[in-house]
Amino acid sequence: MRDMSAPKDFNDRMLSLGLARVSEAAAHASALLIGRGDEKAADQAAVNAMRDQLNMLDIKGVVVIGEGERDEAPMLFIGEEVGTGDGPEVDIALDPLEGTTLTAKDMPNALTVIAMAPRGTLLHAPDVYMDKLAIGPGYPVDVVSLDMSPAERVRALAAARGCQPGDITVCILERPRHEDMIAEVRETGAAIRLITDGDVAGVIHCAEAELTGIDMYMGSGGAPEGVLAAAALKCMGGQMWGRLLFRNDDEKGRARKAGITDLDRIYARDDLVTADVIFAATGVTNGSIVAGVKREPGYLQTETILMRSKTGSVRRMIYRNPVK
Ligand code: FBP
Repeated sequence: MRDMSAPKDFNDRMLSLGLARVSEAAAHASALLIGRGDEKAADQAAVNAMRDQLNMLDIKGVVVIGEGERDEAPMLFIGEEVGTGDGPEVDIALDPLEGTTLTAKDMPNALTVIAMAPRGTLLHAPDVYMDKLAIGPGYPVDVVSLDMSPAERVRALAAARGCQPGDITVCILERPRHEDMIAEVRETGAAIRLITDGDVAGVIHCAEAELTGIDMYMGSGGAPEGVLAAAALKCMGGQMWGRLLFRNDDEKGRARKAGITDLDRIYARDDLVTADVIFAATGVTNGSIVAGVKREPGYLQTETILMRSKTGSVRRMIYRNPVK
Protein backbone atom coordinates (compact mmCIF):
# COMPACT_ATOMS: atom_id res chain seq x y z
CA MET A 1 0.00 0.00 0.00
CA ARG A 2 1.23 3.49 -0.75
CA ASP A 3 2.77 5.30 2.20
CA MET A 4 0.64 8.45 2.28
CA SER A 5 3.17 10.30 4.41
CA ALA A 6 5.99 9.81 1.87
CA PRO A 7 6.74 12.79 -0.37
CA LYS A 8 4.95 12.41 -3.66
CA ASP A 9 7.05 11.91 -6.78
CA PHE A 10 8.09 14.72 -9.06
CA ASN A 11 6.08 13.41 -11.98
CA ASP A 12 7.52 15.80 -14.53
CA ARG A 13 5.49 14.32 -17.37
CA MET A 14 2.18 15.01 -15.65
CA LEU A 15 3.22 18.39 -14.27
CA SER A 16 4.53 19.81 -17.52
CA LEU A 17 1.19 20.67 -19.12
CA GLY A 18 0.20 22.50 -15.96
CA LEU A 19 3.40 24.48 -16.19
CA ALA A 20 2.63 25.46 -19.77
CA ARG A 21 -0.78 26.73 -18.63
CA VAL A 22 0.95 28.97 -16.12
CA SER A 23 3.21 30.63 -18.68
CA GLU A 24 0.36 30.86 -21.23
CA ALA A 25 -1.86 32.62 -18.73
CA ALA A 26 0.83 35.19 -17.96
CA ALA A 27 1.32 35.92 -21.67
CA HIS A 28 -2.43 36.26 -22.24
CA ALA A 29 -2.68 38.68 -19.35
CA SER A 30 0.10 40.90 -20.61
CA ALA A 31 -1.18 40.85 -24.21
CA LEU A 32 -3.24 44.01 -23.94
CA LEU A 33 -0.25 45.84 -22.51
CA ILE A 34 2.14 45.16 -25.38
CA GLY A 35 3.36 48.44 -26.82
CA ARG A 36 1.52 50.60 -24.28
CA GLY A 37 4.63 52.05 -22.64
CA ASP A 38 3.67 50.81 -19.17
CA GLU A 39 6.21 48.29 -17.92
CA LYS A 40 4.76 48.05 -14.41
CA ALA A 41 1.23 47.33 -15.56
CA ALA A 42 2.42 44.67 -17.99
CA ASP A 43 4.50 43.00 -15.29
CA GLN A 44 1.68 43.16 -12.74
CA ALA A 45 -0.81 41.58 -15.13
CA ALA A 46 1.62 38.73 -15.80
CA VAL A 47 2.37 38.25 -12.10
CA ASN A 48 -1.32 38.06 -11.14
CA ALA A 49 -2.13 35.56 -13.86
CA MET A 50 0.90 33.41 -13.17
CA ARG A 51 0.14 33.24 -9.47
CA ASP A 52 -3.53 32.35 -10.01
CA GLN A 53 -2.63 29.50 -12.37
CA LEU A 54 0.23 28.28 -10.19
CA ASN A 55 -2.08 28.01 -7.21
CA MET A 56 -4.33 25.64 -9.15
CA LEU A 57 -1.54 23.08 -9.56
CA ASP A 58 -1.38 20.08 -7.24
CA ILE A 59 2.07 20.84 -5.91
CA LYS A 60 3.65 21.88 -2.65
CA GLY A 61 5.69 24.61 -4.30
CA VAL A 62 8.09 27.22 -3.00
CA VAL A 63 9.21 30.16 -5.11
CA VAL A 64 13.02 30.21 -5.04
CA ILE A 65 13.50 32.59 -7.97
CA GLY A 66 10.72 35.15 -7.99
CA GLU A 67 9.73 38.77 -8.05
CA GLY A 68 12.07 39.73 -5.19
CA GLU A 69 12.50 39.40 -1.46
CA ARG A 70 9.39 39.11 0.70
CA ASP A 71 9.52 42.79 1.74
CA GLU A 72 9.98 43.98 -1.87
CA ALA A 73 7.37 41.98 -3.75
CA PRO A 74 3.73 41.54 -2.71
CA MET A 75 3.33 38.42 -4.84
CA LEU A 76 5.48 35.55 -6.01
CA PHE A 77 8.15 36.68 -3.58
CA ILE A 78 11.05 34.40 -2.73
CA GLY A 79 9.86 31.87 -0.19
CA GLU A 80 6.16 32.17 -1.12
CA GLU A 81 4.36 28.85 -1.01
CA VAL A 82 2.35 28.11 -4.12
CA GLY A 83 0.08 25.34 -5.34
CA THR A 84 -2.74 23.48 -3.65
CA GLY A 85 -0.31 21.94 -1.16
CA ASP A 86 -1.41 18.50 -2.28
CA GLY A 87 1.40 17.08 -4.37
CA PRO A 88 5.17 16.84 -4.68
CA GLU A 89 7.49 19.29 -2.95
CA VAL A 90 8.98 21.43 -5.70
CA ASP A 91 11.13 24.51 -6.27
CA ILE A 92 9.72 27.12 -8.62
CA ALA A 93 11.79 29.63 -10.57
CA LEU A 94 9.84 32.22 -12.48
CA ASP A 95 9.96 35.47 -14.34
CA PRO A 96 6.34 36.36 -15.14
CA LEU A 97 7.51 38.87 -17.73
CA GLU A 98 11.12 38.57 -18.89
CA GLY A 99 11.56 41.78 -20.82
CA THR A 100 9.19 44.30 -19.28
CA THR A 101 10.69 47.07 -21.40
CA LEU A 102 10.58 44.91 -24.52
CA THR A 103 6.86 44.42 -23.87
CA ALA A 104 6.17 48.08 -23.15
CA LYS A 105 7.96 49.07 -26.37
CA ASP A 106 6.75 46.08 -28.45
CA MET A 107 10.27 44.91 -29.18
CA PRO A 108 11.21 41.26 -29.88
CA ASN A 109 11.79 38.36 -27.51
CA ALA A 110 9.72 39.21 -24.43
CA LEU A 111 8.72 35.95 -22.74
CA THR A 112 6.90 34.63 -19.72
CA VAL A 113 9.13 32.04 -18.09
CA ILE A 114 8.77 29.36 -15.42
CA ALA A 115 10.76 26.30 -14.33
CA MET A 116 9.94 23.60 -11.77
CA ALA A 117 12.20 21.01 -10.15
CA PRO A 118 12.25 18.80 -7.05
CA ARG A 119 12.67 20.71 -3.77
CA GLY A 120 16.20 21.91 -3.09
CA THR A 121 17.53 21.49 -6.63
CA LEU A 122 17.44 25.04 -8.05
CA LEU A 123 20.11 27.51 -6.93
CA HIS A 124 18.59 30.18 -4.69
CA ALA A 125 20.23 32.95 -6.67
CA PRO A 126 20.06 36.36 -5.00
CA ASP A 127 18.98 39.38 -7.02
CA VAL A 128 22.50 40.40 -8.06
CA TYR A 129 24.30 40.28 -11.38
CA MET A 130 25.79 37.12 -12.80
CA ASP A 131 28.59 36.84 -15.31
CA LYS A 132 27.23 34.37 -17.88
CA LEU A 133 28.61 32.30 -20.70
CA ALA A 134 26.60 29.83 -22.78
CA ILE A 135 26.96 27.72 -25.90
CA GLY A 136 24.72 25.19 -27.60
CA PRO A 137 24.95 21.40 -27.70
CA GLY A 138 27.51 19.36 -29.64
CA TYR A 139 30.74 20.92 -28.34
CA PRO A 140 33.39 19.22 -26.16
CA VAL A 141 32.94 19.77 -22.42
CA ASP A 142 34.44 23.05 -21.19
CA VAL A 143 35.56 24.16 -24.67
CA VAL A 144 35.10 27.75 -23.45
CA SER A 145 35.19 29.10 -19.92
CA LEU A 146 34.49 32.18 -17.84
CA ASP A 147 38.21 32.43 -17.12
CA MET A 148 39.01 32.96 -20.81
CA SER A 149 38.97 36.45 -22.29
CA PRO A 150 36.10 37.18 -24.70
CA ALA A 151 38.48 36.84 -27.68
CA GLU A 152 39.84 33.51 -26.43
CA ARG A 153 36.29 32.19 -26.14
CA VAL A 154 35.50 33.14 -29.73
CA ARG A 155 38.68 31.52 -31.04
CA ALA A 156 38.18 28.37 -28.98
CA LEU A 157 34.59 27.99 -30.16
CA ALA A 158 35.56 28.59 -33.79
CA ALA A 159 38.34 25.96 -33.52
CA ALA A 160 35.90 23.45 -32.01
CA ARG A 161 33.40 24.12 -34.78
CA GLY A 162 36.07 23.98 -37.46
CA CYS A 163 35.32 27.49 -38.71
CA GLN A 164 36.83 30.98 -38.59
CA PRO A 165 36.14 33.43 -35.75
CA GLY A 166 34.35 35.51 -38.38
CA ASP A 167 31.77 32.72 -38.74
CA ILE A 168 30.79 32.95 -35.07
CA THR A 169 27.93 35.14 -33.80
CA VAL A 170 27.92 36.18 -30.16
CA CYS A 171 24.89 37.58 -28.35
CA ILE A 172 25.56 40.32 -25.78
CA LEU A 173 23.34 42.69 -23.78
CA GLU A 174 23.94 46.24 -24.98
CA ARG A 175 25.15 47.95 -21.83
CA PRO A 176 27.97 50.42 -21.10
CA ARG A 177 29.51 47.77 -18.81
CA HIS A 178 29.98 45.53 -21.87
CA GLU A 179 31.79 48.06 -24.08
CA ASP A 180 35.23 46.46 -23.65
CA MET A 181 33.84 42.99 -24.20
CA ILE A 182 32.06 44.09 -27.37
CA ALA A 183 35.22 45.76 -28.71
CA GLU A 184 37.31 42.66 -27.99
CA VAL A 185 34.83 40.31 -29.65
CA ARG A 186 34.68 42.60 -32.70
CA GLU A 187 38.47 42.48 -33.02
CA THR A 188 38.29 38.72 -33.56
CA GLY A 189 36.06 39.32 -36.58
CA ALA A 190 33.05 37.66 -34.92
CA ALA A 191 29.57 39.12 -35.41
CA ILE A 192 27.59 40.39 -32.42
CA ARG A 193 23.82 40.29 -31.95
CA LEU A 194 23.22 43.09 -29.49
CA ILE A 195 20.06 42.81 -27.44
CA THR A 196 18.59 45.59 -25.33
CA ASP A 197 17.04 43.21 -22.75
CA GLY A 198 16.07 39.61 -22.20
CA ASP A 199 19.11 37.46 -21.60
CA VAL A 200 17.08 34.31 -20.83
CA ALA A 201 16.12 34.36 -24.50
CA GLY A 202 19.71 35.35 -25.34
CA VAL A 203 21.04 32.16 -23.74
CA ILE A 204 18.28 29.92 -25.15
CA HIS A 205 19.18 31.17 -28.64
CA CYS A 206 22.49 29.27 -28.38
CA ALA A 207 20.67 25.94 -28.11
CA GLU A 208 19.11 26.39 -31.55
CA ALA A 209 21.98 28.09 -33.39
CA GLU A 210 20.77 26.95 -36.81
CA LEU A 211 17.42 28.65 -36.17
CA THR A 212 18.59 31.77 -34.37
CA GLY A 213 22.06 32.31 -35.83
CA ILE A 214 23.58 32.72 -32.35
CA ASP A 215 26.51 30.50 -31.31
CA MET A 216 27.47 31.92 -27.93
CA TYR A 217 26.06 34.18 -25.24
CA MET A 218 28.29 36.18 -22.90
CA GLY A 219 28.07 39.06 -20.43
CA SER A 220 26.48 39.97 -17.14
CA GLY A 221 22.78 40.08 -16.39
CA GLY A 222 20.45 39.12 -13.57
CA ALA A 223 21.45 36.06 -11.54
CA PRO A 224 17.83 34.88 -11.23
CA GLU A 225 17.58 34.94 -15.04
CA GLY A 226 20.78 32.85 -15.07
CA VAL A 227 19.08 30.01 -13.20
CA LEU A 228 16.08 30.12 -15.55
CA ALA A 229 18.38 30.07 -18.59
CA ALA A 230 20.31 27.11 -17.13
CA ALA A 231 17.03 25.23 -16.68
CA ALA A 232 16.20 25.77 -20.35
CA LEU A 233 19.65 24.69 -21.54
CA LYS A 234 19.50 21.59 -19.36
CA CYS A 235 16.42 20.56 -21.33
CA MET A 236 17.69 21.55 -24.77
CA GLY A 237 21.35 20.63 -24.40
CA GLY A 238 24.19 23.11 -24.31
CA GLN A 239 26.68 24.32 -21.74
CA MET A 240 26.46 27.31 -19.45
CA TRP A 241 28.51 28.83 -16.65
CA GLY A 242 27.72 31.63 -14.22
CA ARG A 243 29.58 33.53 -11.51
CA LEU A 244 27.79 35.91 -9.14
CA LEU A 245 28.97 39.52 -9.26
CA PHE A 246 28.71 41.77 -6.22
CA ARG A 247 28.76 45.55 -6.27
CA ASN A 248 28.65 46.08 -2.50
CA ASP A 249 28.33 44.43 0.89
CA ASP A 250 24.55 44.55 0.77
CA GLU A 251 24.62 42.30 -2.31
CA LYS A 252 27.07 39.93 -0.62
CA GLY A 253 24.71 39.84 2.34
CA ARG A 254 21.85 38.85 0.03
CA ALA A 255 23.90 35.94 -1.25
CA ARG A 256 24.79 34.77 2.26
CA LYS A 257 21.14 35.03 3.26
CA ALA A 258 20.33 32.77 0.33
CA GLY A 259 22.76 30.20 1.74
CA ILE A 260 25.70 30.88 -0.59
CA THR A 261 29.07 30.63 1.14
CA ASP A 262 31.59 30.59 -1.73
CA LEU A 263 30.96 33.98 -3.34
CA ASP A 264 33.53 33.43 -6.14
CA ARG A 265 32.25 30.06 -7.25
CA ILE A 266 31.80 29.34 -10.91
CA TYR A 267 28.57 27.43 -11.36
CA ALA A 268 28.22 25.10 -14.31
CA ARG A 269 24.75 24.51 -15.75
CA ASP A 270 24.17 21.46 -13.56
CA ASP A 271 25.26 23.32 -10.42
CA LEU A 272 22.59 25.94 -11.09
CA VAL A 273 19.97 23.23 -11.66
CA THR A 274 21.03 20.00 -9.98
CA ALA A 275 18.17 17.62 -10.88
CA ASP A 276 15.63 17.06 -13.61
CA VAL A 277 13.67 20.18 -14.40
CA ILE A 278 10.71 21.20 -16.51
CA PHE A 279 10.62 24.55 -18.25
CA ALA A 280 7.95 26.56 -20.05
CA ALA A 281 8.18 29.91 -21.81
CA THR A 282 5.46 31.66 -23.79
CA GLY A 283 6.10 34.40 -26.33
CA VAL A 284 4.72 37.82 -25.47
CA THR A 285 6.30 39.71 -28.36
CA ASN A 286 7.56 37.92 -31.47
CA GLY A 287 10.94 36.26 -31.16
CA SER A 288 13.20 33.68 -32.70
CA ILE A 289 12.26 31.05 -30.12
CA VAL A 290 8.49 31.40 -30.10
CA ALA A 291 5.96 33.72 -31.72
CA GLY A 292 4.42 36.51 -29.68
CA VAL A 293 0.77 36.80 -28.67
CA LYS A 294 -1.52 37.17 -31.68
CA ARG A 295 -4.68 39.17 -31.15
CA GLU A 296 -7.47 38.24 -33.53
CA PRO A 297 -11.08 39.35 -33.29
CA GLY A 298 -12.56 37.30 -30.46
CA TYR A 299 -9.50 35.34 -29.42
CA LEU A 300 -5.86 35.37 -28.43
CA GLN A 301 -3.24 32.92 -29.58
CA THR A 302 0.06 32.13 -27.94
CA GLU A 303 3.03 29.88 -28.63
CA THR A 304 4.76 28.07 -25.78
CA ILE A 305 7.97 26.09 -25.65
CA LEU A 306 7.62 23.28 -23.10
CA MET A 307 10.60 21.11 -22.24
CA ARG A 308 11.71 18.32 -19.89
CA SER A 309 15.34 17.66 -19.10
CA LYS A 310 14.70 13.99 -18.26
CA THR A 311 13.78 13.21 -21.86
CA GLY A 312 15.26 16.22 -23.65
CA SER A 313 11.81 16.70 -25.20
CA VAL A 314 11.04 20.10 -26.66
CA ARG A 315 7.42 20.89 -27.56
CA ARG A 316 6.12 24.00 -29.20
CA MET A 317 2.43 24.44 -28.51
CA ILE A 318 -0.07 26.85 -30.03
CA TYR A 319 -2.90 27.81 -27.69
CA ARG A 320 -5.97 29.65 -28.88
CA ASN A 321 -8.45 30.96 -26.38
CA PRO A 322 -11.54 33.15 -26.73
CA VAL A 323 -11.27 36.59 -25.15
CA LYS A 324 -13.99 37.14 -22.61
P1 FBP B 1 13.19 42.83 -16.74
O1 FBP B 1 12.30 41.91 -17.46
O2 FBP B 1 13.04 42.74 -15.27
O3 FBP B 1 13.07 44.21 -17.27
O4 FBP B 1 14.71 42.31 -17.01
C1 FBP B 1 15.23 42.28 -18.27
C2 FBP B 1 16.73 42.04 -18.28
O5 FBP B 1 17.21 42.47 -19.54
C3 FBP B 1 17.17 40.59 -18.04
O6 FBP B 1 16.94 39.76 -19.13
C4 FBP B 1 18.61 40.76 -17.71
O7 FBP B 1 19.14 39.65 -17.02
C5 FBP B 1 18.60 42.01 -16.87
O8 FBP B 1 17.42 42.74 -17.25
C6 FBP B 1 19.83 42.88 -17.08
O9 FBP B 1 19.88 43.85 -16.11
P2 FBP B 1 20.29 45.39 -16.41
O10 FBP B 1 19.16 45.99 -17.20
O11 FBP B 1 20.44 45.99 -15.07
O12 FBP B 1 21.53 45.36 -17.21
